[in-house]
Amino acid sequence: MSSPQSPRRRDLLRAALAVPALGFLSPRARAQAKLLRLAATRQSLVGAGNPDTAVWTYNGTVPGPELRFKQGERLRIEVANALGVDTTVHWHGVRVPNAMDGVPQLTQPPIKANGGRFTYEFELRDAGTYWYHPHLGSPEQVGRGLYGALIIEESKPPAVDRDVTWMLGDWRLDREARIVEDFGNFMDASHAGRIGNTVTVNGAIRETFELRAGERIRLRLVNAANARIFRLEFRGHDPMLIALDGQPVEPHRPQSGHIVLGPSMRIDLLLDATGEPGRSYQVVDDFYPRRAYRLLDLKYGKERMKGGRAGAPPPKPAPNPLSEPDLAKAQRHRIEFGGGMMGKMPMGMMRGMAWTVNGEPVPDNGHAHEPMLTFALGRSYVLELVNDTQWHHPIHLHGHVFRVITRDGKPTRHREWLDTVLLDPRTRAEVAFVADNPGNWMLHCHVLEHQASGMMAVVRVA
Ligand code: C2O
Ligand code: CU
Repeated sequence: MSSPQSPRRRDLLRAALAVPALGFLSPRARAQAKLLRLAATRQSLVGAGNPDTAVWTYNGTVPGPELRFKQGERLRIEVANALGVDTTVHWHGVRVPNAMDGVPQLTQPPIKANGGRFTYEFELRDAGTYWYHPHLGSPEQVGRGLYGALIIEESKPPAVDRDVTWMLGDWRLDREARIVEDFGNFMDASHAGRIGNTVTVNGAIRETFELRAGERIRLRLVNAANARIFRLEFRGHDPMLIALDGQPVEPHRPQSGHIVLGPSMRIDLLLDATGEPGRSYQVVDDFYPRRAYRLLDLKYGKERMKGGRAGAPPPKPAPNPLSEPDLAKAQRHRIEFGGGMMGKMPMGMMRGMAWTVNGEPVPDNGHAHEPMLTFALGRSYVLELVNDTQWHHPIHLHGHVFRVITRDGKPTRHREWLDTVLLDPRTRAEVAFVADNPGNWMLHCHVLEHQASGMMAVVRVA
């Protein structure tokens, strides 16, 4: 089960139109969830005619509720844990105060199983597409369905006809649509992570996404998979990237027409419906060669949309209030990620550790480690992140966003702000940021099985 599985679309029998098409789902409730309740339930992931799948959920569904706020508002959400395991909630990519970061031991005690509660409250300084997920036992907890989108709207959002989120999920199911319970096995941990066999969009296998010719859609893609990387091609369409990890970027076409999304990463697309009414166009994912599959079809209604915005000049969303790193004065550090099968195996292999950061595997036993680096509050830093392995690693820093200034020594075209940078095998990237958020922060690979088997560290801003 270690090599990437081609997602199962049709080898599980299911009735046509079993799952509602995307696009005409009921409009999301504008009223804010004030409570997130974790509980086990069942959901149809694969479609009618197949058994439901036992999943773990926020408020009863996978994904959990899409939380929507305006930039500058305060989020206040109580989390109630009715599951039989401890948990926390991490607000991925949001620059929260340290005590709200949801890292067990390091920033808060775990929210206890069977009735524990914790209230998260913080100001939403940045607009953009974010998400929330547990940061305790995350390979299993995320792998069983605990994730949801957090959308923070600009005060003047770009003019589009529809604003849509696709949360991409990846599941390892057996033929009865049950989750295969081999979480934490060493095979996944030491290779590409838990790559499943069933890809869902907003919690179900989808046949179609319905659109109308002439409309302009802001499509927010969120990769909530434990380990799967997506490389999407929107056949017959020409989407533009307008934000990466929630942060606006100069609108541009993706390199080679493909949209690459590592675990935890987000991309906002401007998708102009330039296709023919009545026709369908495939969205294909071909990240793993020889394992390409159709994610879904873009299905056009018969009617053209009157006054649709497709073809208008791309909007320029206002940047978030991020501090600009001073590259001339920045202090530099090199951080090397090592290990994995086919590499030098770390000493800790015996203890189930497969990966290292600067030569040390850090066990995922509560995250309370001594910081690997201490940054001075307000100072600029350049981190050279080096992937010394044969595997892909999406490296995520908490509490901050960084500019990617070089890749393999070459300046990046867009100097994009990210919170997670995908390092291809044997590559490196330099990222620059101002250490302006005090506290102890995680720096880790977001392949959740890699994080849990050594590829994480703590950095301190003091
Ligand atoms: Cu999305 Cu440390 O995580
Ligand atoms: Cu990794």
